[in-house]
Amino acid sequence: MHNPIGIFDSGVGGLTVARAIKDLLPNESLYYIGDTANLPYGEKSTEQIQAYVKEIGDVLLKQGCKVIVIACSTATAAAAEVLKDYIGDHIPVLNVIDPVIAYVRQHYMGKTLGLIGTQYTVNTTTYVQKLEASQANINLKCLATPLLVPMIEADQYEKAILQGYLSEPILTDIKGLILGCTHYWLIKEQIIDYYQAKIEIINGAQLLAIHLQKMLLDRNINNSMSNSSKDYFTATKHTVGFESVTKRVFGEKVHTISLS
Ligand code: SIN
Repeated sequence: MHNPIGIFDSGVGGLTVARAIKDLLPNESLYYIGDTANLPYGEKSTEQIQAYVKEIGDVLLKQGCKVIVIACSTATAAAAEVLKDYIGDHIPVLNVIDPVIAYVRQHYMGKTLGLIGTQYTVNTTTYVQKLEASQANINLKCLATPLLVPMIEADQYEKAILQGYLSEPILTDIKGLILGCTHYWLIKEQIIDYYQAKIEIINGAQLLAIHLQKMLLDRNINNSMSNSSKDYFTATKHTVGFESVTKRVFGEKVHTISLS
């Protein structure tokens, strides 16, 4: 089945998820939306985020996407269920948090983990609630790191900002760190360096790609034809950062679309 996989995020963060999907499933076409006109989602209200996500869902349906991937933790926390209800039975909707929950449940039962994420993601305690619902018995220490998204969107890195967050007392004595925002994977090398590879840096991108692969095969909607894929990257507002990160991660140029 040639239809594209729809992927969206508030900006460049979901490109890490798109990259992981493309690496694992090179035959699949991607249709990516970065909602740069409305970022950062982490500072918006639930109602605002849900409205953006529904509009994006409409665009992805119009593009004929066979599955939608919410490649944004904040959008997952605010609107995963709303989007599923909105889309109904048309196509499956995957999110970037659930595969992480399944992974840490398997590998970190009874341990303490750290999580960094947007203010919204941390305030809603979505990861904590999902861990509790899955009976994972993991002590999760969460820290909001709101300066990271603007820094990453601008395609700039400031060591002092990252180190300031990672040295917060709440993150001491953790066995692993969940990157609870897809943007942070773009600075994963710096995070790994900070911990000198002593703890695992847990990211949902590869986990989600594996989950997606299984789902496509189970439903028999994978594209088995090689060299037939086409990827399309769009942003709701042109930004220099989005352009340069997309070029670096995919070597592709960006088209601009507007939501209604
Ligand atoms: C943001 O737009 O604030 C970041 C979204 C995310 O959680 O990935």
